Amino acid sequence: MSKRVYIFDTTLRDGEQSPGVSLNTAEKLQIARQLACLGVDIIEAGFPIASPGDLQAVTAIARDVKGVTVAGLARANQQDIDVAWQALKQAEQPRIHTFIATSDIHLQYKLRMDRQQVLEAAAAAVAYARRFTSDVEFSAEDASRSDKDYLCRVLEAVIAAGATVVNIPDTVGYAVPQEYAAFIRYIMENTRGIEKVIVSVHCHDDLGLAVANTLAALGAGARQVECTINGIGERAGNASLEEIVMAMHTRRDQLGLETAINTREIYRTSRLVSTLTGMVIQPNKAIVGKNAFAHESGIHQDGVLKERTTYEIMKPETVGISHSNLVLGKHSGRHAFKERLAQLGYVLTEEELAKAFTSFKNLADRKKEITDHDLEAIVEEEIRQVPPVYTLDYLHISTGSTVVPTATVGLLKEGQRLEEAACGNGPVDAICRAIDKVTGLSCTLVNWGIRAVTSGKDAIGEVTLKITLDGEKVVVGRGISTDVLEASARAYLNAVNKLLKEGENNHANDHH
Ligand code: KIV
Ligand code: ZN
Repeated sequence: MSKRVYIFDTTLRDGEQSPGVSLNTAEKLQIARQLACLGVDIIEAGFPIASPGDLQAVTAIARDVKGVTVAGLARANQQDIDVAWQALKQAEQPRIHTFIATSDIHLQYKLRMDRQQVLEAAAAAVAYARRFTSDVEFSAEDASRSDKDYLCRVLEAVIAAGATVVNIPDTVGYAVPQEYAAFIRYIMENTRGIEKVIVSVHCHDDLGLAVANTLAALGAGARQVECTINGIGERAGNASLEEIVMAMHTRRDQLGLETAINTREIYRTSRLVSTLTGMVIQPNKAIVGKNAFAHESGIHQDGVLKERTTYEIMKPETVGISHSNLVLGKHSGRHAFKERLAQLGYVLTEEELAKAFTSFKNLADRKKEITDHDLEAIVEEEIRQVPPVYTLDYLHISTGSTVVPTATVGLLKEGQRLEEAACGNGPVDAICRAIDKVTGLSCTLVNWGIRAVTSGKDAIGEVTLKITLDGEKVVVGRGISTDVLEASARAYLNAVNKLLKEGENNHANDHH
């Protein structure tokens, strides 16, 4: 059996179904481009019929991101498949991914269909999708709770209808590893035609077993895994790409499997997804958490200093975490700055470089030593921002335990300075209210979080927050500064700028 495992990334579809996550088309394109650099085989770009935004994003990714298969999700009916194809047709390698549930619970309560009807709908959907493309994946939703012989008959029918990949999801994260492996093995042994297709698995993490179930299924012969960056997704999330890939990489001796992933792009991809979704990574998260390679106890530190492999099974560099702590400073020039960014893998345009260099110099005035993590934060701030409608000119705060927190802000819009002041329950509230007075919007702050980019008292604080205008659509904003209140103001403005930009785009679409 082939050792090659295909990585199907569904960060932009199942991952985007995480509560509170909503990405716009530009953000989805950025993530898709980074996923292509990471070397995933398939990007599931969205569910085109689900919303106009999804349709737009899948269309843009299919058109612009090359060298990778782009998949779009569709329920097992012609209208969904037509819309999915509409979005996918410009892709270099398009895949239609159609699904219907096969468990009795879903048939009885959700679909209100009998087993024969579902089998026929599945086969008809695959046959219809094959009219458009030769790459068609079928998923049997809630497969792991389905009757296994019935599931085999459904899979036989979709394979006969032309499916090239069949996916066996553990939709509700109910399976345990031995059981799931046996289930996959049973399907492999009892489904006519299964040898002609790729068997895929898709595991949710409700019991914290998504990665373990995925690896068990690979042992049973599955060769495509569906996963997300940082394990984001519905409820407890999906199987985490970085954990599956690094398990295969680190334990090649046991698993004997290969992927096309460039592991050195893992950390960068993880940061990008966290920044754009606003989903903070827990410090102890395997592979990409802040503490994943940190050694705290004296005994461990001593061991690692004597010989790294005493307590380290992977090198941080292998996943793209740079170890160089050096360090640019106030006197470093543009050339050294550009050089270090290039070493970190950032290729910037002259204009982006100029902006990033100005931020670097401003930071160097406040912070003596600027590390790679600081540089990453600066670049993320500069090149991942939407072109701003408002920029922060100045911020003045008066706060303390015995005064009413008050903020005065100066914002620039088209070269003009606009100033307002406001009081609030706390300094962040006062800042948001002052900005709202300038913009005329009345946004609600849904949540606010801070992370120190590096250690030390002069560390950069990175604020990630979420705001909403209508109570439904949530927008993420991010800002950095050595001053956490300034970082909050920048993050809030970043979110407001995104809201305004999206409003403009929707307005433009309404007129077309
Ligand atoms: O969890 C699931 O079953 C899914 C399918 C649509 C593949 O996400
Ligand atoms: Zn799923």
